[in-house]
Amino acid sequence: MYYLNNAATTWPKPSCVADAMRDFLTRGGANSSRGTSSERDMGTMNLILDCRMKLAEFFGGYDDRNPLLVTFTANITEALNIVLRGFLRPGMSVLTSSMEHNAVMRPLRALEARGVRVEVLAADREGSLHPEELEKLLSQKNFDLMVMSHASNVCGTVQPVKEIAGICKAHGLPLVLDTAQTAGLIELDASALGLAALCFTGHKGLMGPQGTGGIVWEPEFASRVEPLITGGTGSYSHLETQPEDMPDKFESGTPNLPGLAGLNAAMTWLKETGIENISRKENELGEHLLEGLTSLAGMKLTGKQDMKDRVSVFAFNIEGFDNGILADELSLKGFETRPGLHCAPIAHKTLGTFPQGALRVSPGYFNTIEEIDAFIRELGIRN
Ligand code: ALA
Repeated sequence: MYYLNNAATTWPKPSCVADAMRDFLTRGGANSSRGTSSERDMGTMNLILDCRMKLAEFFGGYDDRNPLLVTFTANITEALNIVLRGFLRPGMSVLTSSMEHNAVMRPLRALEARGVRVEVLAADREGSLHPEELEKLLSQKNFDLMVMSHASNVCGTVQPVKEIAGICKAHGLPLVLDTAQTAGLIELDASALGLAALCFTGHKGLMGPQGTGGIVWEPEFASRVEPLITGGTGSYSHLETQPEDMPDKFESGTPNLPGLAGLNAAMTWLKETGIENISRKENELGEHLLEGLTSLAGMKLTGKQDMKDRVSVFAFNIEGFDNGILADELSLKGFETRPGLHCAPIAHKTLGTFPQGALRVSPGYFNTIEEIDAFIRELGIRN
């Protein structure tokens, strides 16, 4: 089988991830802050702190990489919901881009129905935002928040985040970044960029298990956000109200501890492997795939036509073929891809592929050039 759907979730994971999860479930396994100070209890606390420290370091967290400013969530959708629903109130205005995933659009549309003003900054047909258009808009209108994805999950276009973050900073506009498609592939430094919140998922470029994700917060912004979920934290148990302290403020209930054990191992693997090596490999695979795709007759590649400012995510249609049927046929031959709208209707509208969608192919670190060749050959047979 040929796994070419790494934009949905990376697979396989480094073997240390499953090993760490198995170890937690069979040898560790204590809850966090909800026992005594037994060796197993302390082992769980150490694991969580270790993982938080690695993430704060990795994402350039605030206050000298303070691990307490990292919140764990079940996924990036939850992370984005915590930030957006916890910050935005009726009467506020939020700016987003026309390349967003529904993890951003659906909370925003729900908030819009409750009186939050939502405005969309249009990207071009290749999915790129233009900083000068943002500058122009911000000189005319005020917003309370901007939220955007760093790279498109549909076509891989990477936004000029440094320029955009600089403009937001100059206008005093808090920026929330969805790094679902870039964390683990592109260096990110939340405090250098001046982000209000960096939302991440554990199961894509970070190579961790599903069910993990989180937020790296700017502390003053975090203090202005209401927790979405309240409940037991294992701390301040005499209080019936939610603690304000980080990280407890946003982390009620028992966390996904086996998942965090896996993510913690993945973070070590990532550091040892080096994200520059991972992105170099993925770029090579991407370049090869792009060359193969553009050699096929009837190929309509969505978004950018080259490798500049993109991650290795490609979406296309082939004239005369329905992308869903094509994906099914490829799947019968062992090629795993993702057709359709990729939970991002607004991005497909921007790219001109709504409502039919496109077939998405996303190689990952563990793919080989031979696998890409086999995929192109298989597509070519139908061509
Ligand atoms: N957001 C993921 C995707 O694009 C799941 O497939």
